Amino acid sequence: MEYFECIFCQKEYPLDLFNPFCLDCKEPLLYQYSQRKRAFYPKKYWTLEKFLDFLPISEANQNFSLGEGNTPLIKLNRLSEKFKLPPIYAKNEAFNPTSSFKDRGSAVAVQKALSMGIERIGTVSTGNMAASTAAYGAKAGLKTFVLVKEDASSEKLLSIGVHNPVLVLAKGDYGQLFYKSFDIGRKHNIYFINSVDPIRIEGYKAIGFEIFLQLNSQAPRYVFAPVSSGGHLIGLIRAFLDLLQQGQIQGLPFFIGIQAKGCSPIARAYRLGKSKVERIEKAETIAHSISNPDPPGGNIVLKMIQDKKGKIIEVSDEEILNAQRILAELEGIFCLPASATTLAGLLKLSEEIKNNINDQIVLVITGSGLKSMKELELSKINICHSSLSKLDEKMKSFIIHK
Ligand SMILES: Cc1ncc(COP(=O)(O)O)c(C=O)c1O
Ligand SMILES: [Zn+2]
Repeated sequence: MEYFECIFCQKEYPLDLFNPFCLDCKEPLLYQYSQRKRAFYPKKYWTLEKFLDFLPISEANQNFSLGEGNTPLIKLNRLSEKFKLPPIYAKNEAFNPTSSFKDRGSAVAVQKALSMGIERIGTVSTGNMAASTAAYGAKAGLKTFVLVKEDASSEKLLSIGVHNPVLVLAKGDYGQLFYKSFDIGRKHNIYFINSVDPIRIEGYKAIGFEIFLQLNSQAPRYVFAPVSSGGHLIGLIRAFLDLLQQGQIQGLPFFIGIQAKGCSPIARAYRLGKSKVERIEKAETIAHSISNPDPPGGNIVLKMIQDKKGKIIEVSDEEILNAQRILAELEGIFCLPASATTLAGLLKLSEEIKNNINDQIVLVITGSGLKSMKELELSKINICHSSLSKLDEKMKSFIIHK
């Protein structure tokens, strides 16, 4: 039997995709099921089939898949060597169909919607989740509604609009728009697959399961993940909790959630030892995709991190851009500033981590750098000029003969 549960008051609710909040605590509900036999099927091709027993769907219909998941875990040898750190891996979620980890959640939520006969889906997002939901809605032939902030860039609007959803630029407070979408959803039968939708969050678990399998059925010692609304980290933690419960691992990894300094309500609450996150007035960071000043999953993240092993830290825009450049120059990985927070966080904690040379570190690279080029400055890219006649000489000057 499947149901929703509030992790604050433990109250159980019938599974209702249109009502994903606790009536008493007002917190997002999480998906639960009563005991069932569970196993991985690593030989299956599709990621949803591999982890089907751990996902909130009873079958994975390939007609609605865009080929999500099965992303590489890449060893970052040059990085470990340079900073004298234990083995570091990048779980590169940029390999997903719309170039971010959001596809993991959209894929599962769309399967769920179809299995329940739902014909309309939607999302409230400024970027990656909007493009992902629009793409999966298109593939499944569902009427899709995307509500975005009125100041969304044309680059973002194009990547969403190309899938031809109903695209609405909404004026007003973004936090309020999030809650308002559920009223609209109930009224017009639109399943809003927002950032902390319980089914979306279950979809993120597959990232954790894949990491486990890719490390030869082991949990890494550290998992670094960017945090905005909270859904991503909640999903990752739940994956390893499932593995622990199944007896597949003996202990949980140390989870490090990273926020940008210009928008770090959860990190601040963690630092001050509070149990509730307070919204901040204004987000100011170049890491736009993790700039939610009023994170709906903030209190859950805080509770999970305080109950389990982990911490939430913040990094500056300068540290983020530096980490983005290091990943690109040293390891060939071009990621979003939001994703580069993982390396920025690791470098910040490097003294703590250095001593445990056998530990494995995983950075979840949540999205591709190609999605947001504006933060990069051409002036900081090394370019040289040459006439054709001097080209040979110019090239020679770069080649050092031993
Ligand atoms: C690239 C990227 N990384 C990380 C996150 C954080 O995920 P969440 O909002 O679930 O905490 C987002 C959210 O939009 C994102 O787009
Ligand atoms: Zn509750």
